[in-house]
Amino acid sequence: MVLKSGFPHWIPSGKAPMTSPTKTRVLFVCLGNICRSPLAEGLFRHHLRARDRSEAFDVDSAGTGNWHQGDLADPRMRATAQRHGVELLSRARQVTAQDFDRFDWIVAMDRQNRADLLEIGSPPERTVLMLEFHSDTALDEVPDPYYGGDEGFETVFHLVDTATGALLDRLES
Ligand code: 4NP
Repeated sequence: MVLKSGFPHWIPSGKAPMTSPTKTRVLFVCLGNICRSPLAEGLFRHHLRARDRSEAFDVDSAGTGNWHQGDLADPRMRATAQRHGVELLSRARQVTAQDFDRFDWIVAMDRQNRADLLEIGSPPERTVLMLEFHSDTALDEVPDPYYGGDEGFETVFHLVDTATGALLDRLES
């Protein structure tokens, strides 16, 4: 994988800072936890299953906001993922301070998500942007598809599919 400049060079190859001695724990975060981060969670799980590595990771997603607490992912996001053979099963929840101890990596979908996470105590060196792992896009944020049309969900699917695969490559390297 070709790394973009600005890639978090501090990710050590082969050894991540682990709160668990056995599993790498990854939390994906967006605003509502009904579009981008549940997609990232579902796609990361999908890549893990394809590589027979599910046992090595704990994966979850959360939102910086709490408006959709308990909801399944947005029907448009679920339909898009389903068309590509990926089922999104998670229920929305708000991020908590305990998440910053529980998870090794906190992966924010956009800059505002990351800023909001840092403000409530997420460790900067472990709070990364999803698209830092995508070597082939000019974008550095996953666009929020919530207020747009169906094509936005399709765009987000492909961005996050590539980025979650590359994140897994990186964590396994
Ligand atoms: P997400 O999208 O952050 O990707 O889940 C959104 C979902 C809901 C809202 C905003 C963004 N909302 O304002 O309710």
